[in-house]
Amino acid sequence: MSSSEVQQAIRRLLKERNAVLLAHNYMRDEVQAIADITGDSLQLSMEAAKTSASVIVFCGVHFMAESAAILSPDKTVLLPRPDAGCPMADMVDLTGLRELKARHPGVPVVTYVNSSAAVKAESDICCTSANAVSVVKSLAADRLIFVPDRNLGRWVARFVPDKQFIFWEGYCPTHERMTVEAVQEQQREHPAALFICHPECAPAVSALADHVCSTSGMYAYCKNSPATTFIIGTEAGILFKLRQDNPDKEFILASPALICPNMKLTSLEDVLLALQTMQPVVTVPDEVRLKAKAALDKMLAVPRD
Ligand code: 13P
Ligand code: SF4
Repeated sequence: MSSSEVQQAIRRLLKERNAVLLAHNYMRDEVQAIADITGDSLQLSMEAAKTSASVIVFCGVHFMAESAAILSPDKTVLLPRPDAGCPMADMVDLTGLRELKARHPGVPVVTYVNSSAAVKAESDICCTSANAVSVVKSLAADRLIFVPDRNLGRWVARFVPDKQFIFWEGYCPTHERMTVEAVQEQQREHPAALFICHPECAPAVSALADHVCSTSGMYAYCKNSPATTFIIGTEAGILFKLRQDNPDKEFILASPALICPNMKLTSLEDVLLALQTMQPVVTVPDEVRLKAKAALDKMLAVPRD
């Protein structure tokens, strides 16, 4: 079958199964192209919570499908590639988090959604890169444990100087592969360009940025900016919609290393097979799900700044 035949077969089966196709902004172009909704982690978890479809096909990585299963227990959540994980999410484990909590009794835990359901269940509130500053500001406590992304945590801390952060030293290997030298080389070659990066980048890289934001924040920023050339410091998949939505603007990837192998696993064939077989299903046991849901619900209730 050609790519477009596979795409048509997917769209047909989505209708038959009363299914919705959600795709993260880092997915392969051909997968984003046929998704019902593309978005960042926050948008996708909100869509998962409110969709009336009975099946969610989640094109993303495991923790995202888990979040959908936590928020929509009555729906079938399919993750076409069950091996699509997130190395940063795997950097925090339940035992380590419990030990850290025991060392800081009563200190609330803010957990980035890039984490397992079990870790979320051990947390007070979740956050995404789009709402992390608002979430931290919403806390009454003046100390907090931030898990697992040290780079996002340190970036948030700059906006909340009245609170003391205890960081977990996790990181995204894809974003950390982008070096200061790679960015500066692009800045030299494109002196009029704005450099926009994700808060998962190392602090020395974020320090070079004209704007730091989530993936969806990048779409809004680049669309509204009068600038015409942008150096983009996040995973390469974001270029698809940036270029589609802004045909008169130029987008340059800050470093060729910005490819997340996990986000690139899901192919059209995987999506089709998942819909044909209604497998693999992602579920979260109720005792974990209810606690993790409380942390996600608290996050969803925080008003954005
Ligand atoms: P956002 O799309 O929420 O900014 O997430 C970035 C990311 O690395 C997801 O894995
Ligand atoms: Fe995880 Fe980074 Fe890949 Fe996102 S880009 S899934 S944080 S490894």
